[in-house]
Amino acid sequence: MTYFFKNIYKQPIILILDSGVGGLSIYTAIRKMLPYVCYIYFLDNQAFPYGEHSETFIINRVISIIKVVQSRHQLDLIIIGCNTASVVALKILQNYFICPVVGVIPAIKLASKLTRNGIIGVLATHRTVNHSYTWSLIKRFANKYKVMLLGTSELVNLAESKMYGKKMPISIFRDILNPWLEMKQLPDAIVLGCTHFSLLKKELISVLSSNSYLIDSRRSVAKHSLRLLRKNINDPINNSYSFRTNKVYCSMSTTEVIKLKSILSSHYDFFSLEVLSV
Ligand code: DGL
Repeated sequence: MTYFFKNIYKQPIILILDSGVGGLSIYTAIRKMLPYVCYIYFLDNQAFPYGEHSETFIINRVISIIKVVQSRHQLDLIIIGCNTASVVALKILQNYFICPVVGVIPAIKLASKLTRNGIIGVLATHRTVNHSYTWSLIKRFANKYKVMLLGTSELVNLAESKMYGKKMPISIFRDILNPWLEMKQLPDAIVLGCTHFSLLKKELISVLSSNSYLIDSRRSVAKHSLRLLRKNINDPINNSYSFRTNKVYCSMSTTEVIKLKSILSSHYDFFSLEVLSV
């Protein structure tokens, strides 16, 4: 099906993908606006964490995932629910696939509007903080501010552990954020440049100062996705559709991911979890 004609008779299908549970923060935000769309969530636990892989690996991996999901589902929108994969691969993916592709990039532009002390913090994976795309966002939107970049994979692992019900020792958050906590003035606009970190807002704010803004891209991604979907689907908020069609794929079966099944259905309305090899 080409994407030039409105497909008005089918329930819209959106794919959201990430290396792990981080993309669920995007899913919950977009689902508030679009509750009756069919969501396919691809959790690439076999390649987790993306932040430690090469760019080539990430690009090829995400293309393979989208292709294998498209072999089963006629997608109307693809959301890369991952800053790391977005800064590395979004432009390539948008040129490669006919289906519209939306990415999640560090919300540096919004942070530049919200900072009051002129110090912006960007918390993301090592791959994201070291990528030229991130630096171009800083140059374009925050070049008159002091921008502190902090790359961490430990925080990504903590977000995964939290989803699996593990305790969150605040001392670890203090250690990770220590480079900022030692500063005379803390950044007061902190970009959560990894979708996993939106799942840790409570823990992060308990370590940082209460007047720091924690900023992510969830709302802007949700609004952009709705705009794109309206172009191809007559009425994407049509409430006659059932949300029981939502499903999660993972790239590898582990005891951990099996444990996730009950959380996915009780908290996220995903009623099926299946391994889909990439
Ligand atoms: N949640 C992803 C992000 O927004 C990826 C984290 C990882 O796998 O390193 O960057």
